[in-house]
Parts: sequence; C-alpha cells; structure tokens
Amino acid sequence: MKRIIEGSPLIPKIERGKKIQVIVDDKRIEAFEGETVAAALLTAGITTFRHSQKNKEPRGLYCGMGICYECLVTINGVHAQRACITTIKDGMRIETCKELKL
Ligand code: FES
Repeated sequence: MKRIIEGSPLIPKIERGKKIQVIVDDKRIEAFEGETVAAALLTAGITTFRHSQKNKEPRGLYCGMGICYECLVTINGVHAQRACITTIKDGMRIETCKELKL
C-alpha cells in the first residue's frame, strides 16, 4: 500500500502533517503527523499486526474504525492498543505480533 502523493481531478490535493519517525519492531519508519498507527504500518508494508490467540493466525486492519479489535499492537510498552484509531506521534515505539495479555 502506498500513500497518495499528488492530487488528481478525482482526488483533491492532500496536505500532510510534518514528517516524523517512529520505531516499529526495532526498525525506524517514516510517517506523517495526523496519520493513524495503522496507516503508517500499512504504508511501511506491515500488514500483520498480531496473531490470534487461539490459532495463531495473522491479524491486521479489518474494520478500520475501532470496533473489531483485530489491529491490536503494543505502543510505548502499553499492550492491546488499536492501531486504527491511535494517532501516531514522533518517536513512538510500536511492537507488532506480541503475545497479548487480555
Ligand atoms: S481494525 Fe477494527 S478495531 Fe482496528
């Protein structure tokens, strides 16, 4: 998945926030202020955010609006944060695929 960079007749010009950097699983990625954690992860090519507890199946963005809880990640050491409704911040440490303790 890629960010839309330029406007077109169908897509108006997009204004982005300041470019920031976050750490995802010990790897530095770029994001923009105002994006969600999920948007930044997907743009970086990360589609598996965690694995299901029972069958260890990959989980990622599903509803995109905070209802399904499929997108849980660890943010700054806090487990089970919904990536789709969490606004990314400069310097955040995000961990995917952690064993969740619900
Ligand atoms: S994708 Fe459904 S809660 Fe985040």
